[in-house]
Amino acid sequence: LRRRSNRIGLWLIGATGRVGSAVALGLAALRRGGVSRTGLVSDLPPFRGIGLADPGNIVLGGHEIRSETLLEAVQTAHQKAGIFDAALMRRCAPDLRALQRNVRAGTLLGVGPTIRRLSEDRRIPRDASARAAIERLSSDILAFRRRHQLDRVVVIHTASSEPPFPLKAMHKSWSRLEKALSRRAPGVLPASSIYAAAAIEAESAYINFTPSLGASVPAIEERARQRGLPYMGCDGKTGETLVKSVLAPMFAMRNLNVLSWVGQNILGNRDGEVLNDPKTRASKIKTKDRIVARIVGGSPTTRVSIDYVPSLDDWKVAWDFVHFEGFLGTKMSLQFTWAGCDSILAAPLVIDLARFAALAQQRGSVGAMPHLAFFFKDPMHSDTHDLPSQWAALVDWANKTRSDR
Ligand SMILES: NC(=O)c1ccc[n+]([C@@H]2O[C@H](COP(=O)([O-])OP(=O)(O)OC[C@H]3O[C@@H](n4cnc5c(N)ncnc54)[C@H](O)[C@@H]3O)[C@@H](O)[C@H]2O)c1
Repeated sequence: LRRRSNRIGLWLIGATGRVGSAVALGLAALRRGGVSRTGLVSDLPPFRGIGLADPGNIVLGGHEIRSETLLEAVQTAHQKAGIFDAALMRRCAPDLRALQRNVRAGTLLGVGPTIRRLSEDRRIPRDASARAAIERLSSDILAFRRRHQLDRVVVIHTASSEPPFPLKAMHKSWSRLEKALSRRAPGVLPASSIYAAAAIEAESAYINFTPSLGASVPAIEERARQRGLPYMGCDGKTGETLVKSVLAPMFAMRNLNVLSWVGQNILGNRDGEVLNDPKTRASKIKTKDRIVARIVGGSPTTRVSIDYVPSLDDWKVAWDFVHFEGFLGTKMSLQFTWAGCDSILAAPLVIDLARFAALAQQRGSVGAMPHLAFFFKDPMHSDTHDLPSQWAALVDWANKTRSDR
């Protein structure tokens, strides 16, 4: 008998982090039912009837480098950030224990000293080369797919941010990079790109929810196209940048001249601790800072700062000051304050991305998925940064998908 199903797996890199564990609890809660689906974009009317997998049926697995379990991670978030209902956590505890069995040891190859310090888990294998790591990581994903009889697995990178990684000549084509992968020297690829390559070898769609390099390497994009796979990134647009991408078009449409846009972010979780390292912070600032000039044009003075304030834990506060010029040279200003709970904003988007990417893969989509630009601060191969246009592109894609069914 042929199985009539659309069983998808979601493989998270950084599975037991704040975002990863919130996704795990969210999926368990959706499976058990009786919880609100607020925050899930894919649940909105324009996306009904297009063939998205039911989020309650998504099976979770992933790679991690710390020994904290999914259940411990949600309990920590509950204690420190005051999020998640205690009764819901109790109800979902058996599911989180079961999902924990799908979490495998990640790689420390290509991580910098900041991330290496996070990993107190002595059981993490030492991979001899990027090729060895890619083989081990991709076989974990393939084994997960077989064990759970999944039709497809989407890999989403939600691991700690990495410092910028300069590309060299060997990163330009897959044939050149492939030769370099066997070198025993570190520095061929950052960990995020090793994971992207592993996802591709495991025939999975790949999404980069972080500002790390991931699949943004010409050789890796070439490999994904060779293997007929879709991918997208970078860096989930969940808070301050989301608001910017709605407000900046307003200034442009009213022909108001944005002179400066200065944003100060403070956050206190592990992501904030990792971003406290100036090199790592540079990757994040790059994806957060570009958007205003790209939407309003010209060369406004823009600045983004990020400070680590441990007591805030998962609650990120962003304060933005916009200085702009109106008719006859009159200067005015706008200020806003955003106080968001980072993992609560990010988790439903990760579930959305798993559903959209699995459907795109099922429909034979290959290469970057610009219709998913809506979800990212720095969308790959897309010049569309304003939220309303990104939304229109996503809805268009959904309408085409529906009419092709
Ligand atoms: N929360 C948001 O709103 C949001 C928005 C956009 C992007 N992001 C990005 O998502 C990522 C996760 O955020 P978070 O708050 O969950 O951070 P976190 O520190 O709680 O989680 C990251 C997890 O990745 C793990 N990890 C680090 N290196 C790894 C490796 N080489 N292999 C496997 N696992 C590894 C860590 O052990 C940790 O558990 C960050 O890069 C963050 O910048 C978050």
